[in-house]
Amino acid sequence: MPDRKRPIGIFDSGLGGLTVFKELRGLLPGERLIYFGDTARVPYGTKSAEAVVSFSREIAAYLLAKRIKLLIVACNTASSLALGEIRKVSPVPVLGVIEPGVRAALAAVPRGGRILVTGTTATVNSRAYSRALAAGGVKVTQQPCPLFVPLVEEGWCSKPVAATVAREYLARYRGKADALILGCTHYPLLKKVIAGVMGPRTKIVDSARAAALAAREELAARGLLNPGRAGRSEFVVSDAPERFSALALRLLGIRTGRVTVKRF
Ligand code: DGL
Repeated sequence: MPDRKRPIGIFDSGLGGLTVFKELRGLLPGERLIYFGDTARVPYGTKSAEAVVSFSREIAAYLLAKRIKLLIVACNTASSLALGEIRKVSPVPVLGVIEPGVRAALAAVPRGGRILVTGTTATVNSRAYSRALAAGGVKVTQQPCPLFVPLVEEGWCSKPVAATVAREYLARYRGKADALILGCTHYPLLKKVIAGVMGPRTKIVDSARAAALAAREELAARGLLNPGRAGRSEFVVSDAPERFSALALRLLGIRTGRVTVKRF
């Protein structure tokens, strides 16, 4: 098979990475996309670095065996903790969501500006965002928002409880940040609520969109873009395919069709 016709592999701890998948699907309609959601072991955000690295390596090996041309780690927690390990063993380029998110945030604020990073506890503790941003000459504050993930998984993005939780985490930063990074793949689904709490002064940086743009750039630079029109999408999860399928439709309007199960 010519290299440009090979699929792109994408993985996340569960369904959050579908925010990246959706952006990719829109940007690259000709590509064959294989999405893996580790629904048996989600969430990663509360697990140890060792566990996240080991899960990520297993999934990367599974996707690489499908002869993918690019691997996208569509999970901030796995990108923070496991990207280096995966790059060491991957024969194809590996993109995470942190670097594109950092670049987009730095482009959105003046030098010396203030950026608020939101994410899971594991992502915040890894300091992956804050180190990369500080090197770009901005002031960084981090805020873990662990309750956002279960709110999204429950489909409660526009219920009053979502705004209550967002206020609890973020109200103290209102008007004080030039940009806020949605440093978790679930958070774009709460973008409106988060923007409402932060106020109009704060730009909201969506790392899912930034990652999809980076993937297109990477493929174009290597001459690997698939010029076709109707690339197939395949979905694989490690547990509960029906729930995954139902949530993909309810939260993101994605019709998955049949979802395959792969257990490790
Ligand atoms: N996908 C994860 C992330 O982007 C959030 C969900 C989890 O904790 O596994 O960090």
